[in-house]
Amino acid sequence: MTVRERVQKAGQEQVFKFFDSLSKAEQDKLEADVGSLPIEDLERMFKASQTYEGPDVAGCKAVNADRTGVASKDDGTWFKKGLELVSESKLAVVLLAGGQGTRLGVSYPKGMYNIGLPSGKSLFQIQAERLKRVEALAGKGTIQLYVMTSGPTRAKTEAFFKANNFFGLKACQVRFFNQGTLPCFSFEGKVLLQNKSTVARAPDGNGGIYLGLKNEGIIEDMKAKGITSCHFYCVDNSLVKVADPTFVGFCATLDADCGNKSVVKTIPTESVGVVVQDAQGVHHVVEYSELSTEMAEKRDEDKQLTFRAGNICNHYFTVEFLEKVCSLELPYHVAKKKIPTVNDDGELIKPETPNGIKLEKFIFDVFAFAKKFALLEVDREDEFSPLKNSDKAPRAQNMIQDTLE
Ligand code: UD1
Repeated sequence: MTVRERVQKAGQEQVFKFFDSLSKAEQDKLEADVGSLPIEDLERMFKASQTYEGPDVAGCKAVNADRTGVASKDDGTWFKKGLELVSESKLAVVLLAGGQGTRLGVSYPKGMYNIGLPSGKSLFQIQAERLKRVEALAGKGTIQLYVMTSGPTRAKTEAFFKANNFFGLKACQVRFFNQGTLPCFSFEGKVLLQNKSTVARAPDGNGGIYLGLKNEGIIEDMKAKGITSCHFYCVDNSLVKVADPTFVGFCATLDADCGNKSVVKTIPTESVGVVVQDAQGVHHVVEYSELSTEMAEKRDEDKQLTFRAGNICNHYFTVEFLEKVCSLELPYHVAKKKIPTVNDDGELIKPETPNGIKLEKFIFDVFAFAKKFALLEVDREDEFSPLKNSDKAPRAQNMIQDTLE
């Protein structure tokens, strides 16, 4: 069957609406673009996103870190265990840097952001230096850094690391890899066009990391290097403890295959997901955008929020666990967005209100597959200061304009 026939059968023939008005080169490009979509699966994916309800919150219990671990209670055992993993080169760090910084209002990857320190350091620099510091504490061993980028952030991120000599890390210690993309849909489930000859796509959410790890050979690379555990974190937390020995040592001591850090959530409206346990004892994060007001506002007798294990996007996974989950299909979460597209006359339009949906996978949706889950509560003041929104957008540090424009 040709691509056109497959698309017709799947009820997505609108993607070829302008085909006859295109040049031969554009027609070939569009056919290849559409052909790379999971055509037969589009309807199922869209329906799955519409019917996804999240964990069964009715039976959910709070899972607060006092049931598992609190970082300040470490008597040195966890920290020592973490450094031991580093000294044996068994720990890798995976940096989530595929987000586009739209909310921050910058046109370059968030990690290049100068957070206003006197040193003028970018997030990437601060984080690379923290990684080196942990290596120094361990005395020996290398921490491999894997940086996940997306189509829109890859070139600038790589160029920035190179232009800054990898911030003192060895070039062979850093590897970039891409997450995938998913097509954007109209509210009726039709794939949108970005222009007459290109499908509208968006990064597949930070849960796209698992397919990225698999498709780009990262899991194989980790295994070949003898890496057994990873610390994943999101780029926008200026206080992140990269390769935190206490956290990885805590998870390793508990023999957990999956772990999470949390801070105590104190305000019901704070934009953090919360860790919960369902009626079967399985752990999940309920994302802030999907948390009901009732759940968000529920309080214990002592007036603390009931669901207060706030997710700060710091995760621990064993490589064995990653290998198991990287082939699973994770749920699709729906984000209603203003998606640039073409109108019936083929003219480009930039909508003022949401006109379609992006599908996003969430990194924490693999928690449900953990055999042993560990949760470590840490102090917000020490470890969590995320940069989400900004009313001004300063220049990225040391940006080499001519290599990046
Ligand atoms: C995220 C968490 C939320 C948590 C909060 C803490 C998820 C889904 N949500 O929310 O539970 O409380 O951080 O600050 O993890 N990214 C990619 N590719 C993408 C999208 C995002 O790599 O396609 C990366 C971003 O670069 C960032 C991280 O994932 O490093 C978090 O993404 P973001 O969209 O900022 O999530 P939040 O809404 O802040």
